[in-house]
Amino acid sequence: MAAVEFQNVGISFGTAPIVRDLSLKIEDGEFVVLVGPSGCGKSTILRSIAGLAAVTSGDMRIGDKRMNDADPSQRDIAMVFQSYALFPNMTVAANLGFGLKIRGGKRTEIDRKVKEVAAVVGLSDQLHKRPGALSGGQRQRVALARAILRRPGVFLFDEPLSNLDAEFRTAMRAEIVRFHRQQGASMVYVTHDQTEAMTMGDRIAVLAPLAAGHAANLMQYGTPDDVYHRPANLFVARFIGTPRMNLVTLPVKERAISFGNQRLALPSAAARLAKVIIGQRPEHLRIAAEGHETGLAGTVDHVENLGHEMILTLATSLGPFVLRETRSGEVPSLDQPVRFTLDPHHVHLFDPASELRVT
Ligand SMILES: Nc1ncnc2c1ncn2[C@@H]1O[C@H](COP(=O)(O)OP(=O)(O)OP(=O)(O)O)[C@@H](O)[C@H]1O
Ligand SMILES: [Mg+2]
Repeated sequence: MAAVEFQNVGISFGTAPIVRDLSLKIEDGEFVVLVGPSGCGKSTILRSIAGLAAVTSGDMRIGDKRMNDADPSQRDIAMVFQSYALFPNMTVAANLGFGLKIRGGKRTEIDRKVKEVAAVVGLSDQLHKRPGALSGGQRQRVALARAILRRPGVFLFDEPLSNLDAEFRTAMRAEIVRFHRQQGASMVYVTHDQTEAMTMGDRIAVLAPLAAGHAANLMQYGTPDDVYHRPANLFVARFIGTPRMNLVTLPVKERAISFGNQRLALPSAAARLAKVIIGQRPEHLRIAAEGHETGLAGTVDHVENLGHEMILTLATSLGPFVLRETRSGEVPSLDQPVRFTLDPHHVHLFDPASELRVT
């Protein structure tokens, strides 16, 4: 088991910088998720831990050793890929035992370990089959079991669940988290799916692509609650949460903003700006009760009825707003006029110039 630490790491392919000034520490035994849109460098960062992508500047440490130039075989890591790379002509048992066999393990010992790990991942009754006869989820478990057998200090996962259907993904997510609790090993898990990041990580590193003009990739590193409830900047505010956070730029007048006829006094750091970006998550906007004329006026533009709750898109003079409410009574009809209010306790403020959170 080992910690992994990046200190001011840069990674370039040819002249193109892909990762810049990355400082990030994965503590021993921690489950860290790297999340961000396609091309932000998630796989590259993961591969640099494995020794499959070269660190071009700064230091990368595993445990207390600088590993920038270490051979992949010296790094004590196991990687689980999106494509499972199983031997198609071998049974599941042979696939699992292969690594132990080439390292000269005894037959009976290998059999015992293979049976043990198969039980851990729920494959005991599949050991005689070849990979072609397994479902995607079962193949995924074989790949996971193979990584477990290596007993590495650090597990690396690159979008391991993206080939699975929704129901199975949820089940496998829970299994990987449970597995992490049992093993207590450090794990670095790459996904572009923010729900996966939120539900699995002890901490989440939100990454942005340099190609989009960002000076560095790491936008925020924190717990799921940090990135959801206290996004450090607009990028994280937009990326984490579904449906997305509502964001609107409003002029600051007399240390306050007006949301329709709702006045919201600003804290001093925001009050001195000329304009401020107001963010509010869909679950915090509220439709005003009939007869209460506070908030912003709009009309119902789209309704998603999920049974227990509904997601409304409201058309307003400030653009569309998305609101999420637990169902109580009737679903509003299209074009129905409504008023809705901001919840002052859950407002996020951002500086339009720096795009940073104002606290
Ligand atoms: N070996 C390589 N040579 C040149 N460019 C590369 C190489 N590997 C990756 N890149 C580039 O680096 C950038 C980051 O790629 P990376 O695979 O790390 O992104 P990612 O965040 O994993 O994206 P995705 O979600 O699509 O998997 C991309 O622009 C990609 O084209
Ligand atoms: Mg990738």
